[in-house]
Amino acid sequence: MARYLVTGGCGFIGSHLVERLLADGHEVTVLDDLSSGKSENLPDAAALIYGDVADPLAVAEAMSGQDGCFHLAAIASVERSRDDWARTHQVNLGGTINVFDAARRADPPIPVVYASSAALYGDNPAVPLSESAEPRPLTAYCVDKLACEHYARVADRVHGVPVVGFRLFNVYGPRQSPISPYSGVISLFMSRISRGEPVTVFGDGELVRDFVYIGDVIQYLTAAMTQPLPGAQVFNVCTGTATSLKQLARLVGELMEKDTGLQSTPPAPERDIRVSVGDPRRLMAEFGFACDTSLRDGLRKTLKWYTASQP
Ligand code: NAD
Ligand code: UD1
Repeated sequence: MARYLVTGGCGFIGSHLVERLLADGHEVTVLDDLSSGKSENLPDAAALIYGDVADPLAVAEAMSGQDGCFHLAAIASVERSRDDWARTHQVNLGGTINVFDAARRADPPIPVVYASSAALYGDNPAVPLSESAEPRPLTAYCVDKLACEHYARVADRVHGVPVVGFRLFNVYGPRQSPISPYSGVISLFMSRISRGEPVTVFGDGELVRDFVYIGDVIQYLTAAMTQPLPGAQVFNVCTGTATSLKQLARLVGELMEKDTGLQSTPPAPERDIRVSVGDPRRLMAEFGFACDTSLRDGLRKTLKWYTASQP
């Protein structure tokens, strides 16, 4: 049994991770400011510290006495980083530096597993994108995520913090908030289709994403904590399968047994990545298993939760 801090543990990915850590018998503390997460997402057995990762003292206190830290807290939205540049930077990069800094002050330094993002590949067309593909970040969110990776190398090389990062592609599943305008596309499509409203696709609907089911993501986070790897390595978390937004809308409509109307809005090429598909080979070689939940199966599970959670 170990003691783990999960920053952002009340959010979509964090709450699934907390559930899994508790099921494995660990003690879990969560640091979260509830800005997008919800305390209802958190099982009773986890301790919640209400605080801001951008506050170094709050992070240092939460880190004290922990055996490891999963750092997931972020303003996880490309759109938000456009609307609120300074605050997203404070949280997404500043918060990550605070986590590394607190981790390095322990003796020995506390291992950190953190969420980076596939969004940092930006408009690099070399799909499927391998970890060695050149990052070409288009937005502030992506620049901050790339900078987190650089600082992770500093944490490792200069301060001896064992650290592993995951470039998550588009993660989906139960508990992804369907209500915020900044929500992920799958939860937005589900809520619009269930109300009989047309879904909005940006551009021609041929934008492509690599959708990864949450259950598959969690297994890498936990494995990386128990088999620490040298050199602040980063891994794609992806399936290698491309799905266009039009295909996605059709599939969600089919599973919900509803007609899907499509509404197009002009594309936003300055921020919207056209093709995002990852190469999972390095991930599979290191961890020995794949993200193998099919989009259809993952959407079925998500839909079951979505239906049950509607008033
Ligand atoms: P989420 O918004 O559901 O969760 C983020 C959590 O962090 C929330 O509980 C929120 O309240 C908390 N938080 C935000 N700002 C905070 C602050 N200043 N202090 C403390 N807590 C704060 O998002 P998610 O989808 O679960 O994303 C988790 C991580 O994974 C993020 O780092 C995100 O950038 C990364 N990521 C997500 C995806 C995806 O597809 N969902 C893809 C790539 C990377
Ligand atoms: C998502 C994550 C981000 C992560 C990145 C990794 C969310 C909210 N964001 O960003 O944290 O770093 O993946 O690659 O999960 N779209 C529509 N119609 C809509 C909404 C969206 O066409 O109503 C399009 C968007 O233009 C985009 C695609 O769907 O092309 C996916 O959008 P979204 O789910 O917001 O995710 P990303 O921007 O890819």
